[in-house]
Amino acid sequence: MATIFVRNTGEHLQDEAAVAAFLSANEIFYEHWDLSGIPGSLRDRFELSDADKEAILLGLSDAIDRLAKSRGYVKWDVIALSDATPNIEELLTKFEQVHTHTEDEVRAIAAGSGTFVIKGQGATGYFDVHLTAGDVISVPEYNPHFFTLTKTRQVVAVRLFIDPSGWVAHPFIDPAFAAAP
Ligand SMILES: [Fe+2]
Repeated sequence: MATIFVRNTGEHLQDEAAVAAFLSANEIFYEHWDLSGIPGSLRDRFELSDADKEAILLGLSDAIDRLAKSRGYVKWDVIALSDATPNIEELLTKFEQVHTHTEDEVRAIAAGSGTFVIKGQGATGYFDVHLTAGDVISVPEYNPHFFTLTKTRQVVAVRLFIDPSGWVAHPFIDPAFAAAP
């Protein structure tokens, strides 16, 4: 399940209801999926063939279809990141810059873990959402954020898009973020 670290206050939220309430208050969509449809052999693998990715999408098809219908997504794919990913250091450097998109950014974690750093509403400041397998999150359009790996540096995630061609990162220069710990 997701946990939260609030950078301004040092507060950690681990209680499921508290995490859900915090995310809702910050207008972040969050839910948790049952991953039992994913073949067992793929639940702990981070180097995936195209066939493996298709098998993950098939295993999650009911949840994907429901989410797509309710929120308007028309396309989805699977990404896998680990130390085996070519240019992983370069990718992480690029990832860890605050940015925005003109559509929301959805990630369903299928294996491993990842962290979204998100600018909260009002005076909340930035907070980290640590996601593990089954967690599904959507960062709203125009909401500053970035995604990065956790210490284990392994994640498989499903991405869903309303319009993949419009899914471009726009840098968001924020002095308040630079001052964060
Ligand atoms: Fe993004």
